[in-house]
Amino acid sequence: MAKPKVLVTRRWPAAVEAQLSETFDAVLNTGDKPLSEAELRDAMKSYDAVLPTVTDTVSAKAFDVANPQARILANYGVGYSHIDMHGAAGHGMTVTNTPDVLSECTADIAMTLLLMVARRAGEGERELRAGEWTGWRPTHLVGTKVSGKTLGIVGFGRIGQEMARRAHHGFGMKIVVQNRSRVSPDILARYNATQVGNLEELMPQCDFVSLHCPGGAANRHLINTRMLNLMKPDAFLINTARGEVIDELALSRALWFETIGGAALDVFDGEPRINPDLLDCDNLVMLPHLGSATREAREAMGFRVLDNLNDFFAGREPRDRVM
Ligand code: DGY
Repeated sequence: MAKPKVLVTRRWPAAVEAQLSETFDAVLNTGDKPLSEAELRDAMKSYDAVLPTVTDTVSAKAFDVANPQARILANYGVGYSHIDMHGAAGHGMTVTNTPDVLSECTADIAMTLLLMVARRAGEGERELRAGEWTGWRPTHLVGTKVSGKTLGIVGFGRIGQEMARRAHHGFGMKIVVQNRSRVSPDILARYNATQVGNLEELMPQCDFVSLHCPGGAANRHLINTRMLNLMKPDAFLINTARGEVIDELALSRALWFETIGGAALDVFDGEPRINPDLLDCDNLVMLPHLGSATREAREAMGFRVLDNLNDFFAGREPRDRVM
């Protein structure tokens, strides 16, 4: 029997690409160039499976195909707000993602960002590399203590919980949670966390707010001027979720006028383009979407996609089916 035809839209870890090529009739993207909308649409017509990542905007137009051959979009990544789910549903396509395997590494980056912005690590490194460090002094780059402070976590899924574990058990932080649905008391008890009803309640009581909710239209600009105004004037905002969750113009104003203490971002609206207003803010730490960027996580994500494809083409329910 012919092997299913699979299109991999970016370079993946070598071990995963090797396994994909062995199991499927796989076409790899050796040039690692993101696909255009037209190329994605063509892929829908000629492959049994398309394996997109966050850099592929699989918009409604990509699904504008009469009889697509693709039956599954096996996404490499946990977030899938770059895929138009109505378009996929319209063709009865299955969509899968890669949860769990990147939760710890993404929470590590969220904690890295939290520490960097509180302790002014980005500013310090910029100063040192510019040859402007004049030596130790009691008033130099004085930051904010992290241990024992209150951390608000927006979205208490797997990554949010890993963040709570690090912050509470590692840094003795008090954890306050806002989540769409009710979190079970057992889970909250693991981190001595309290769940509040809404963001209006969460924002004013936190020294740090870390975003771990999904992106997409429903959460676009969830953090806007009104929410930023509810934060304490010395509080910090951390985002490892999706760029669109924050209104970046509102954030740049809050940072510029110092109505909040600072922010640290791993994700950006319209990335890799960075809003120029953000680049001027010294009290902002920025990383280029590194949340899951460890050898371990990136390989595990790839093998999770393989598991989903193997199940799908064997007629079994893929474990990570989101549609
Ligand atoms: C994820 O898995 O969602 C990461 O942000 C990479 O897309």
